[in-house]
Amino acid sequence: MTPRPIRQLVPALEISEGAGVTVHRSIGTPALKNLDPFLMLDHFGSDNPDEYIAGFPEHPHRGFITFTYMLDGHMEHRDSLGNRGDLKAGGAQWMKAARGVLHSEMPQQSEGRMRGFQLWINLPAAEKMSDPAYQEFAAAAIPEVVEAHTRVRVLAGSYAGREGVIDDPATSVLYLDVTLAAGARFRQAVPAAHQGFVYVFEGDAALAGQPAPRHALAVLGAGEGVEIEAGREGARFILVAGRPLGEPIVQHGPFVMNTRAEIEQAIADYRAGRLTLAPSPFAKGD
Ligand code: FE2
Repeated sequence: MTPRPIRQLVPALEISEGAGVTVHRSIGTPALKNLDPFLMLDHFGSDNPDEYIAGFPEHPHRGFITFTYMLDGHMEHRDSLGNRGDLKAGGAQWMKAARGVLHSEMPQQSEGRMRGFQLWINLPAAEKMSDPAYQEFAAAAIPEVVEAHTRVRVLAGSYAGREGVIDDPATSVLYLDVTLAAGARFRQAVPAAHQGFVYVFEGDAALAGQPAPRHALAVLGAGEGVEIEAGREGARFILVAGRPLGEPIVQHGPFVMNTRAEIEQAIADYRAGRLTLAPSPFAKGD
């Protein structure tokens, strides 16, 4: 296995999202507009309620999947499909917005730590206007492989014979949350044609011998797999990879389509209340 080197290191940019939540964005910034099939990666993490309490009130999405992984904290999700979900520490949520979803993501805590990731995964042209879908998994549902110096939570794809909870046939996404003890090594095959990244969020690590600092996205270069060694404090990171779609990407905020005309249609549908087939669940009286 040829270990994949770091092709690009993208430090996360601190930005304000939703109603004023501080997030750390790496994919979806000027340094890395996208990493086909991934459109955005936000890392949120704060012990300060002022940075998360405002939450993400009602907003639309069309054309892709949002995948949220909670590390700490409690958010309530509500959407135009009628789903009402509780996202708690260690749990994950997969929402295929497809032709349109309106949703809100609001903190259910007024103090303590809120920490997690939101990844946007693109949909192929043929599925962008398909029916939306929603799946939610509590922490206990996510397979965990614990060995002497490693702990791996399998969110999507497979590791050591365990299959993740999310199966995405279009992009075959691999999504692992890996914790390594000090100096421990981790290896995982990643098909040469798949694009991917490692994002260290605790401790520090080296990827194919190159430093992968905390809170920076390390884009995988050419090769067949990843080889990671934790530093003296150990390390915790997510490893994410997937098959590129190779289709044009036209993005306007929360709408990601293949052409400008499709974006204009999305904006017009949203303004006319036609983005989803169902009326907004946030209408008065609810
Ligand atoms: Fe959203």
